[in-house]
Amino acid sequence: MQVQFSAQRPSGAALAFPIEKDGLARSTFAGLDDATRALVEGVAKASRFEGETGGVVEVFASGDGEVTRLLLVGVGAGSDADYERAGGALTGRLLTSGVTALAIDFTGSGASAQAAARLLAGAVQRGWRIDTYRTKLTEKQKPTLASLTIVGAPEGTEAAWAAQDAVTQGLDLTRELVSEPPNVIYPESFVARVRKSVEGLGLEITVLGEDEMRKLGMGALLGVSQGSAREGQLLALKWNGKGAGDPDLAFVGKGVTFDTGGISLKPGPGMEDMKWDMGGAGAVVGAMKALATRKAKANVIGVCGLVENMPDGNAIRPGDILTSMSGQTIEVLNTDAEGRLVLCDAIWWVQKTYKPRTIVDLATLTGAMIISLGSEHGGLFSNDDGLADELLAAGKATGDLLWRFPLSDAYNKLLDSPIADMKNVGPRGAGSITAAQFIKRFVEDGVKWAHLDIAGMVWADKPGPNHDKGATGFGVRLLDRFVADNFER
Ligand code: BES
Ligand code: MN
Ligand code: ZN
Repeated sequence: MQVQFSAQRPSGAALAFPIEKDGLARSTFAGLDDATRALVEGVAKASRFEGETGGVVEVFASGDGEVTRLLLVGVGAGSDADYERAGGALTGRLLTSGVTALAIDFTGSGASAQAAARLLAGAVQRGWRIDTYRTKLTEKQKPTLASLTIVGAPEGTEAAWAAQDAVTQGLDLTRELVSEPPNVIYPESFVARVRKSVEGLGLEITVLGEDEMRKLGMGALLGVSQGSAREGQLLALKWNGKGAGDPDLAFVGKGVTFDTGGISLKPGPGMEDMKWDMGGAGAVVGAMKALATRKAKANVIGVCGLVENMPDGNAIRPGDILTSMSGQTIEVLNTDAEGRLVLCDAIWWVQKTYKPRTIVDLATLTGAMIISLGSEHGGLFSNDDGLADELLAAGKATGDLLWRFPLSDAYNKLLDSPIADMKNVGPRGAGSITAAQFIKRFVEDGVKWAHLDIAGMVWADKPGPNHDKGATGFGVRLLDRFVADNFER
């Protein structure tokens, strides 16, 4: 989607006006003649439009021998998030409508630059889709909307949009990785795709193959990978926006490019969903791309543990004991609880190599998370109340909502094993919490850590405010905002 700023509406473009709740009467509708204005207001009334967030009224007006599409879009109370939802609603309505260009008129709207930029973000993000494998789309099924023009933008909108544009580009990368099929995206191709996507942005890239990981003793991650014909990878992207030095913050993502469950094989129906079991890693690389693109003034590293979990003659068995890089041993009782095995070595590696004081990991870790929170919130687990609050706040500000869960010794004990340092699964109850407790055993004293279980969030069955059905890109906006609010000041 092209975005531009202009003083006037480009000819031929559809024209939209943001309207606050009950703000119809206050609207100036700059540039509309009296008759058209009366028509628009009449249609709004007749369709009981009151400016509620994301509500859209569409009117066709004729004049000068052509028909123009006019839209009113509700921005409710006028918060940044309201504007973002309004932008998404416009694109949702127009994407395949035949309209190719949309102008949004902010003249006299009272919106801030940030609000206007968020409307653009919502509009552009909602337009993302992957048509790579559709060879038979009819003309009518293809997206038409390709250009957005902001008319009468509040001062500073262009700068605010530049930052939102960076986030949007990160989001695109995440969604692409999550959407691609598992025969196309596997650990090595994930790395290659990311390399290409972040080329020239100044990220320092480190990739470890299985030989290097074996030398480092990453027996847990390698244990998961050993049933796969694809080679596992550890990918790190380092952004030093504050100058030389170790990163203050590490993001760590679960990147299981396909999760069959391994020898503890998953049931067939729905297994295709497990192509998005790399959504945590996807969010990490998307966030790193956003930070580098907008040149964030922070030192951050993003690490992805990339493996494929397959059943095979060489796969790990229930009962196998793995030795992690930390030296702690793990009795694998269920090969489908593989994400924690990948994360524990990735987290240990980043602590040993870069000494970050704060770690946030993201993972589609447990089905139990979806039972708890559905697809409305991601689960948050943390050993630090301040960090938890910062993440909750970033979630509220961006729409990537989180909900905090407890941790305690009592839950931790449920992982004790009679033969090794721990088992990789607890009892049936509290499955998301015991998974978090497992990871916590690999976080060193003094490190602030949060774990985000985003199993219910990376894929959507229905369109949302800023995404279509499918990959949501959950976590990218959250992590970007978390850095902006807490590491750049
Ligand atoms: N990737 C799955 C979790 C998952 C399930 C994410 C459904 C999204 C949708 C994870 O690797 C897994 O299989 N977890 C097991 C853990 C269990 C064996 C303790 C689960 O949730 O069933
Ligand atoms: Mn699994
Ligand atoms: Zn998994």
